[in-house]
Amino acid sequence: MNLTTRPPRSGVVWSGVSSVRVRPWPHLPQQAFLLIAGSHGPDLELPHSDILNEWVHTISSWGYQKVRTTALAPAPAHALRAVGFVTAQELLLLKCTHYTAPSFDIPRDIAPRPVRQLLGKRYSSRLIEEILEVDQLAFGDEWSLDHESLRDAFRATRSSRLFISRTHGKIDGFVLVGATGSNGFIQRLAVHPSARRTGVASRLVASALRWSFKHGCSATVVNTEVSNAAAIDLYRSFDFVPMEHGLHVLERDLQ
Ligand SMILES: CC(C)(COP(=O)(O)OP(=O)(O)OC[C@H]1O[C@@H](n2cnc3c(N)ncnc32)[C@H](O)[C@@H]1OP(=O)(O)O)[C@@H](O)C(=O)NCCC(=O)NCCS
Repeated sequence: MNLTTRPPRSGVVWSGVSSVRVRPWPHLPQQAFLLIAGSHGPDLELPHSDILNEWVHTISSWGYQKVRTTALAPAPAHALRAVGFVTAQELLLLKCTHYTAPSFDIPRDIAPRPVRQLLGKRYSSRLIEEILEVDQLAFGDEWSLDHESLRDAFRATRSSRLFISRTHGKIDGFVLVGATGSNGFIQRLAVHPSARRTGVASRLVASALRWSFKHGCSATVVNTEVSNAAAIDLYRSFDFVPMEHGLHVLERDLQ
């Protein structure tokens, strides 16, 4: 019997004002994913740098070569920069205020369809695989979702809804929208490269905004990389405007 103890790969590294967990980054097992609950919140205060250094030490002792965070508001990003983290991705936060019901006419035959319980028993794993495949083609290996991060995105808000667009039966795009209280969030939007510039994303965003409004949200927020001109143009066409602060995904080598 082999009694060698292997270090853990996943676990909670802190439970204070915020809970902080680690697991492998989707599709990159040598890279740790540092998940800080509430990290988008501009008021989140991370603990003293001695404790942040302890997190780094723990993650390193678990055998990871690198660590990358969830998207962080300026204050937590500042705290982690002080212990050697640098920017991996800069994100713009955009907000669309719902003054009146969004009015978009989408022909019935090409209207995105809602999927109510992706994580329940009703839907086949084939559907999830197809969604993850589109996500991978849209975002590439480094930034695409795996099963766990898709599930996390679903559960990040109090309620959520997935809309999918299909052509000839195949999924060519999807949007995941969620709501907590009066705030709506577009959590993920991806269109298959072969279906781009045909209005798929516009129909998905329209469906998401309509859902958000019907759900009682007064505004919907989305984040996207500052260099993603396609997404920024798309959101601006729906009257999204930049918010005061952005977000940063940070990373640090552990070698
Ligand atoms: C961004 C993305 C969702 C757009 O999907 P799409 O189905 O091609 O978008 P649409 O055809 O509905 O385009 C609507 C508008 O968005 C803007 N747009 C879309 N692609 C664009 C591009 N490559 N360059 C500039 N503007 C673009 C345009 O204003 C366009 O209107 P127009 O075609 O009348 O000029 C798609 O390129 C994608 O999946 N990218 C990778 C993943 C991603 O960036 N997701 C969003 C991040 S939150």
